[in-house]
Amino acid sequence: MNAPLPAEVLKQHLIDPEICIRCNTCEETCPIKAITHDSNNYVVDPDICNGCMACVPPCPTGAIDNWRLMVRAEAYGVQEQLGWEELPGEKALPETTAALPADDAPAATDLAAPAPFSAPGATVPPWSAAHPYVNLYTHKTPMTATVVGNYRVTGADTESDIHHIVLDFGELPFPVLEGQSIGILPPGLDAQGRPHHARQYSLASPRDGERAGYNNLSLTVKRVTEDHAGAAAHGVCSNYLCDLAKNDKVQVIGPFGHTFLMPNHPRANLIMICTGTGSAPMRAMTERYRRRIDTGENGRLLLFFGARTERELPYFGPLMKLPRDFIDINLALSRETGQPKRYVQDLIRERAASVRELLADRNTCIYVCGLKGMEVGVLDALHDVTVQGGQDWSILHDALRREGRLHFETY
Ligand code: A2P
Repeated sequence: MNAPLPAEVLKQHLIDPEICIRCNTCEETCPIKAITHDSNNYVVDPDICNGCMACVPPCPTGAIDNWRLMVRAEAYGVQEQLGWEELPGEKALPETTAALPADDAPAATDLAAPAPFSAPGATVPPWSAAHPYVNLYTHKTPMTATVVGNYRVTGADTESDIHHIVLDFGELPFPVLEGQSIGILPPGLDAQGRPHHARQYSLASPRDGERAGYNNLSLTVKRVTEDHAGAAAHGVCSNYLCDLAKNDKVQVIGPFGHTFLMPNHPRANLIMICTGTGSAPMRAMTERYRRRIDTGENGRLLLFFGARTERELPYFGPLMKLPRDFIDINLALSRETGQPKRYVQDLIRERAASVRELLADRNTCIYVCGLKGMEVGVLDALHDVTVQGGQDWSILHDALRREGRLHFETY
């Protein structure tokens, strides 16, 4: 049992700027808005943070899990942390407060009541997920990959310029699992004259490579030409990646992610819900299943995939060639001429019976990836489908989170 901290001592929560990939997960997860950021860093406000730990499990890199015992009056402020390039070392506490040996430092969970479920999804992987490697390559030690393919996977005449990019790692180890992501370091400097931060992309290929048995992987990258509000904006990394040619070299860090992972046990079912480039992890998982289609190990695959039109739906051709008894495909098209506007959540409601049947099976895991806006819509649809079946959604929702069976990755 840890001893309580003296009142003048703070176990200060810090984020390591050298490992952080600026994915915004911590800021979104924090239930009391203690995390903020600028163009340089993500930081924790010592005046607000209560050490509830809600932000720690979802962080894909572990950059969030840094703590310093500080004299409370000398805690690092937000402005100071925003200017950091690296974490400061441990400081010795003055004699009067240093009664705590480092190993006996209280866990942050001792400082506050345990966090209630605040995130919509699980912060643990499914019980049978394989062990992921994370942070093998960092900002300080990136690895160089070679581009071996770069193809557009949406109609050439559409606004959605989405590319399938294949990177090869040669002789260097880069072990990954479906659902994990990597960081790309775009070349050049930002507006402040510093090297660009890494941008995070989900893998679109399964663990044994884009081409089975090869040391390569693929990404699904949309060229960013406007911001969320529709104003013109040039995506630094997405444009860099979409313009790469075969044999170009790319600086890669990662892999990242230890929760958005697929179950590894036989007959596990997957409900996959995605929009646009959120299809990357679904492609990776589907391909993992496809490669073992003859083993009899597979459970059911139910896919809900949203895009503006068929021609703007990445991988439309190959997806539609998959056997119907292998994957149950439901396309939600929002801007197809002559068709009503459909979102993935509309189709979840339409397929309520199948969704309920799968939800009733503890071998089912649900993955949601794509636009932030669909998070609420999908949760509402799952709620409605469950309640119509006479079940209590809040009980099921808690179980899905506790058992690592409901995962979100939205942006
Ligand atoms: P919309 O036509 O209304 O933009 P994008 O092409 O921008 O990546 O979007 C992929 C798909 O997700 C589009 O069909 C888009 O529809 C749809 N979409 C947008 N907002 C939501 C939302 N809140 N929930 C579900 N789907 C959405």
